Amino acid sequence: MAELTRERWGKRSYFIFAALGSAIGLGNLWRFPYLSYANGGGAFLVAWMVGLLAIGIPWLILEYGMGKYFNSSAPGVFEGIGKKWEWIGWWPVWVAFLITTYYTVVMAWTLRYMVAAGTVEWGMGAAGTEGAGDFFFGTVLGLSGGPGEIGAPLPALLIGLVVVWVIIFLVVYKGTAVIGPVSKVVMIVAWTFLGILVVRGVTLVGAAQGLNFYLETDWSKLASGDVWFAAFSQIAFTLSLGMAGMFAYGSFIKSRGDVNNNALITGFGNCATSFLAGFAVFSIVGFLMQSLSIGIEEVASKSVGLAFITWPVAISMLPAGNAFFGIIFFLCLFLLGLSSAYFLAYGGVISPLMDKFGWSRTKTALGVCVIGFLIGILFTTNGGLYWGADILDRAVAFYGLLITGALTCLVVGWGFPASRLREYVNGTSDFRIGPWFDVMVKFVVPAALLFVVVYGGFMQDIPNSYSGYPRWASNAIWGVLIVTLVFSFIMGKMKTKGRGD
Ligand code: PFF
Repeated sequence: MAELTRERWGKRSYFIFAALGSAIGLGNLWRFPYLSYANGGGAFLVAWMVGLLAIGIPWLILEYGMGKYFNSSAPGVFEGIGKKWEWIGWWPVWVAFLITTYYTVVMAWTLRYMVAAGTVEWGMGAAGTEGAGDFFFGTVLGLSGGPGEIGAPLPALLIGLVVVWVIIFLVVYKGTAVIGPVSKVVMIVAWTFLGILVVRGVTLVGAAQGLNFYLETDWSKLASGDVWFAAFSQIAFTLSLGMAGMFAYGSFIKSRGDVNNNALITGFGNCATSFLAGFAVFSIVGFLMQSLSIGIEEVASKSVGLAFITWPVAISMLPAGNAFFGIIFFLCLFLLGLSSAYFLAYGGVISPLMDKFGWSRTKTALGVCVIGFLIGILFTTNGGLYWGADILDRAVAFYGLLITGALTCLVVGWGFPASRLREYVNGTSDFRIGPWFDVMVKFVVPAALLFVVVYGGFMQDIPNSYSGYPRWASNAIWGVLIVTLVFSFIMGKMKTKGRGD
């Protein structure tokens, strides 16, 4: 019965665009290019491609295939393997939900900057170079001295956050029927904007110098664990794995639909976008090095610094069309974030709740959006950057994602097991995958994820207080993980009432 009533993607292309939209996010633009530069350019690309093939593609096939097999989002998949495993399906739901609470605040920053870009509010020319940092930390964030000083919400960010959640609600409350076509438009517009930014970037003076830094290869780096750590963690992060949503997106594939080829298309499409984004980022890095006569270390940065300081400085320095390129840049960032945010909300949280409790889509969507917004208010405060995009991000988008991912692969690989999944996906896919898949899921992916957690996480975060914060603030990371684990056990014990509409 449930099989007949479950919602489906109207067309294969809707699934592909929605899956690409979920994977392609802020990380492609603000995380990948910097990692490549900092980890040996071409050498990093090799490690990252190994990560895509050895970890990303098998794990994607696993999440799509298991969702499709059980016609269910993550918790129902694990309940299907055995009731005692259901909690493993809830943990990534918590991860996805907590990510949306601060990811949406970052999107609110981009809205604030879209308005600011209209007049290049942080200043033109040299004034912009001087003022971009103060504008971001002072005017936009009103940043306090540390995580101990929370302060009050900033009205402009609060308004932006309302707008973001209203848009998310409008996209998700009708499910795949709207998510599919919207994703297609969002992705095509976002790629067009990215294309405009690349063309603008590479035609600026100094661009070639920046691109040299991006792609210059230092093979010796492949001998260092750091490169593999960076490449593997980026692959898990960029494909939006380990946050429940891909199970749900896979469960909406029609029963005769392909899994293997779709995983390949989304994996490679996502990575190609990252590679392209690197040209937009490093061409402006080169332009700034040349126009400000400064070294690469002073310009190249990642995440928040790249998007909200380096880019605004570049926008101030452009010879013409400053407001235009400013708006395009922040709109592009907003759209990249949007398709990831509604994926996390719908596939990661709303769909699992509907599947478990039989609630209606509209009510569940409303509840999740309102609660997500209310928690997000905390991250619009003066101390919001520390708690949201930093501490909580480390807890869920690093530890949560990797640990739940490793557990997922072990339980599916050994318990389901992998060979059964392989035969199932091969039955309806464009091409077949061989027994290598079983080895990846049972050994390679969990081992690689645990390596990342231990090498890049535990070995550094536990002895040194994370980010140099006071110990009580960095310990919040472990608090979040323990609380979400306990909640997952509780959810796993509750009776499943059946699917909502
Ligand atoms: N894969 C997207 C990105 O790279 O930005 C979306 C995403 C991944 C969002 C991981 C949040 C996250 F923690």
